[in-house]
Amino acid sequence: MPITAPVRSPLDADRFAIEVARLSLAPGDRLDLDAPPLDSGAYDLVIARCAADDGANIAALEAAGGRLMDVHVSFDRDLADADADLDPDDEPIDVATAADADAISALCRSAFARSTGHYHADPRLPADRCTELYADWGRRLAIDPAVTVVVQRDAGGGIIGLATFSLDEPAQQATVALDAVHEDHRGTGTFARLGRQRLALARRAGADRIVTAVHLQNVASCRANERIGFRIASAELTFHIWRRTPEGEL
Ligand SMILES: CC(C)(COP(=O)(O)OP(=O)(O)OC[C@H]1O[C@@H](n2cnc3c(N)ncnc32)[C@H](O)[C@@H]1OP(=O)(O)O)[C@@H](O)C(=O)NCCC(=O)NCCS
Repeated sequence: MPITAPVRSPLDADRFAIEVARLSLAPGDRLDLDAPPLDSGAYDLVIARCAADDGANIAALEAAGGRLMDVHVSFDRDLADADADLDPDDEPIDVATAADADAISALCRSAFARSTGHYHADPRLPADRCTELYADWGRRLAIDPAVTVVVQRDAGGGIIGLATFSLDEPAQQATVALDAVHEDHRGTGTFARLGRQRLALARRAGADRIVTAVHLQNVASCRANERIGFRIASAELTFHIWRRTPEGEL
């Protein structure tokens, strides 16, 4: 039975100026009972995930002081028909370059300002810093050569929507990082078009399958993915465990 311990997350630590670690518990994993308790070890905050039906680890994380922050749902899709799904109007496909990094970061900042994910769900984390995390993430994706960012521009060339993926060539699997459509352009099929374009590009790049994950509360994203053929595959729970002090929690 593998024993699992938290791993420091430098990005989260920098963003929130506290010590943050991540802990991922697969079914059958168990917490390291010889390590300091999660709520009084080296970390101010431990962000922990386990499968939504993994009763043993859910109980262990709750006993360790974990509070449920979100339900993280994975979807996948076979890509055999990806090109056939492309509308003639979906061509040409516009792929961002590093020169688009500022615009992509700005779009992510506005699109995720009211996110329902585990960061924004935690009242102890300042909402503006949670939002900045997505702006940073968008910027890093834009300049990462391993990531493809499909974009939709308005008549003036401004980016109004984006859909990303990276490719694991040996596994022939594409993985989504972020999707976003500017609030003023939602509900008009922008994501549907970007999503179809991404499927076709991932297929052309050699992927047989694509996976994505969103928070269950993000109905818009769940439905938008279902609309282009994704199907639910699994669900995980995200807990936040804060350090306890003699006076209580940090
Ligand atoms: C998720 C998101 C990208 C969808 O973009 P969009 O351009 O508005 O989506 P579309 O207009 O293409 O809609 C696609 C489908 O989803 C449905 N949908 C979109 N928004 C919806 C909402 N708020 N509630 C319910 N269904 C919704 C549409 O009805 C459509 O289905 P239909 O064709 O059967 O009617 C957009 O809401 C967004 O940017 N959200 C904030 C960022 C985010 O959560 N990103 C995803 C996680 S990384």
